[in-house]
Amino acid sequence: MFKIPFFKKNKNKTDHIDHIENVPEHVAIIMDGNGRWAKKKGLPRFAGHKQGMDNVRNIVRRANNRGIKILTMYAFSTENWKRPRDEVDYIMKLPKEFIHNYLPELIQENVRIQTIGDFNLLPAHTKQAVNEAKERTKSNDGLILNIALNYGSRGEILQAVQQLVKEVESDKLSPDTIDEQVLAKYLYTTGLKDPDLVIRTSGEQRLSNFLLWQVAYAEFWFTDKYWPDFDDEAFDKALLDYQNRKRRFGGLTNKK
Ligand code: IPE
Ligand code: IPE
Ligand code: MG
Repeated sequence: MFKIPFFKKNKNKTDHIDHIENVPEHVAIIMDGNGRWAKKKGLPRFAGHKQGMDNVRNIVRRANNRGIKILTMYAFSTENWKRPRDEVDYIMKLPKEFIHNYLPELIQENVRIQTIGDFNLLPAHTKQAVNEAKERTKSNDGLILNIALNYGSRGEILQAVQQLVKEVESDKLSPDTIDEQVLAKYLYTTGLKDPDLVIRTSGEQRLSNFLLWQVAYAEFWFTDKYWPDFDDEAFDKALLDYQNRKRRFGGLTNKK
């Protein structure tokens, strides 16, 4: 297998990484298996979520180091409300803890925090923590850490359609002008390039309502490792695998 070497970045500078070939610009991760990780260790499920949160920090560091521009992390789906109340309550407290523990370091590393998802249903304390993180990192122009929180792809497409219909009804938009680019502007991911690589941990091979529109031509990579065990080495394996894929986008050449 032909392997393209990675080059380490110098601290916060990005000038040394321009020559890394074929690194995915946008990596989206379905961080699954926190509960099973905990169970395997004889711990309660929430311990898996805590460890999973700490691992987000590790993987953000690695992504930055590898020259990735956007990291979208699936943290909570619109279907995860079906879980027991105490588990949901615990997960909703994690953004605050994450920010308390890691925001200063992330700011130092020039990371910009963004989110996708429906914020209406989030508890006030969760919204507050996330908004603070977004506000305090909004002028950073390094890696975008895009957290999918109360995110569901069908709901995202539905709200886009509702907005479009309203625009048409108020004569701001003509139906004939709605193309893929126009629709994409109404998605939560507006302004973000589509994911190049989707990683799912824990052995499941499904999307679970994640970025259905945006992953039309993404590459997929699955691992049996549970999310808290997904380390730098596993991440590099996924990246190296990606580097050797041939993306054709329906054509016949390997040109992007
Ligand atoms: C992923 O881990 C985190 C969330 C979905 C919030 P899980 O909690 O789904 O872990 P498993 O799949 O039960 O092991
Ligand atoms: C997907 O994991 C959602 C997140 C990782 C946040 P789930 O554990 O909710 O997915 P299913 O239920 O196994 O499909
Ligand atoms: Mg799961």
